[in-house]
Amino acid sequence: MSLSRRAATRKSLKSKMKHEHLAGYEVLVCVTGGIAAYKAAGLVSALIQRKAATTVAMTANATRLIGPATFGALTGQPVYTDMWKQEFSADIGHISLSDRADLVVVAPATANILAKMAAGIADDLISTTLLSVAGPVLLAPAMNERMWSNPATQQNVSTLKARGHIFVGPESGWQACGKTGLGRMSEPQTILQAIEEALQHKKPKSVS
Ligand SMILES: Cc1cc2nc3c(=O)[nH]c(=O)nc-3n(C[C@H](O)[C@H](O)[C@H](O)COP(=O)(O)O)c2cc1C
Repeated sequence: MSLSRRAATRKSLKSKMKHEHLAGYEVLVCVTGGIAAYKAAGLVSALIQRKAATTVAMTANATRLIGPATFGALTGQPVYTDMWKQEFSADIGHISLSDRADLVVVAPATANILAKMAAGIADDLISTTLLSVAGPVLLAPAMNERMWSNPATQQNVSTLKARGHIFVGPESGWQACGKTGLGRMSEPQTILQAIEEALQHKKPKSVS
């Protein structure tokens, strides 16, 4: 093989490794009922491209904004929406989703899920799963500016930060309500970077 061919092969291998650097990690993406739920599809696609084993769970409200079939097609895996479904309780169990995940991400995180997490409420699949997570959860809030700045939400955010949860965003910009303000979910690439940072010193559960 010529020198230039070898260099090109090394370069393409390096770039492949760079792109597959989440191989071995398992990420659980919880999608809640915010208008930014469609952006979660971009995040899930980016995780799959980086070879992270990605599972998606959705709240009932999220399924009204984006179909589970989108995430099913992206991950090639079942999408979990209901802990009372026979297949779910038989195969997975209501706390096992968090057991096997190296990182749990909530994107978008509604004002509602932040409040439920802060209060320890477990009344559906996602809130129950989140209450059973041992380590920090990565939260990407998205909501109208007034919902974000409401003292109730801000107090919930402070509580969750004090418990060690990681926040990415929200950012300022155009909002679905037609106004510009703080509350936009961070872009998938920014959330991906935060996921990479959260995992970089962690050994995947699959090898430990
Ligand atoms: C079209 C539409 C868009 C919504 N977008 C948001 C949002 O961006 N952020 C938010 O906190 N709530 C939003 N809501 C309200 C939530 O869906 C509502 O609070 C719901 O109870 C959240 O449930 P969940 O957290 O279980 O998904 C939206 C509602 C509708 C109808």
